[in-house]
Amino acid sequence: MSCLVMMGCLMSLIDWGESFSVHNEEIDEQHKKWISIINKMHDSMLSDDYMTFEKNIEALIIEMVDFTGYHFALEEKYLLKIHYPGLADHARKHKEFNDQVAEAFRDLRSGNMMLKSNFLKMARSWLVDHIMTEDKKYSLYAAEMDNPDEANSSNHH
Ligand SMILES: [Fe+2]
Ligand SMILES: [Fe+2]
Repeated sequence: MSCLVMMGCLMSLIDWGESFSVHNEEIDEQHKKWISIINKMHDSMLSDDYMTFEKNIEALIIEMVDFTGYHFALEEKYLLKIHYPGLADHARKHKEFNDQVAEAFRDLRSGNMMLKSNFLKMARSWLVDHIMTEDKKYSLYAAEMDNPDEANSSNHH
């Protein structure tokens, strides 16, 4: 298999597993969908046909822009509903990523392949990091609110 972009060949697909779960079915489903967009970007990097790659990656970046906005809005609404104290900070992190995605969108037609592969690398690591650290924080908070006794006991059965 040939590779248009070396980085695409070096990176692996993301496997959604239980370790990603924030114990909210709707949000988990959205995270899965988001990961599938990243994985499709990864696949398109493995294409050996430049025209196909260009077409696919553009469509995927547009899909990413749309989905990012949609997911952040829903997640922030949920955090407001559960009175999550870290909401302002969490929303700021969402906004930072949104700005980066918007920038990538502007660069889309520059024809710079490196920008696209950098975008994939950035989006991939941001997404995994964000779910595993920031989204996990509210998941823990929500679990404590639902079940204060259990959360306070490290030795429950
Ligand atoms: Fe988040
Ligand atoms: Fe999220």
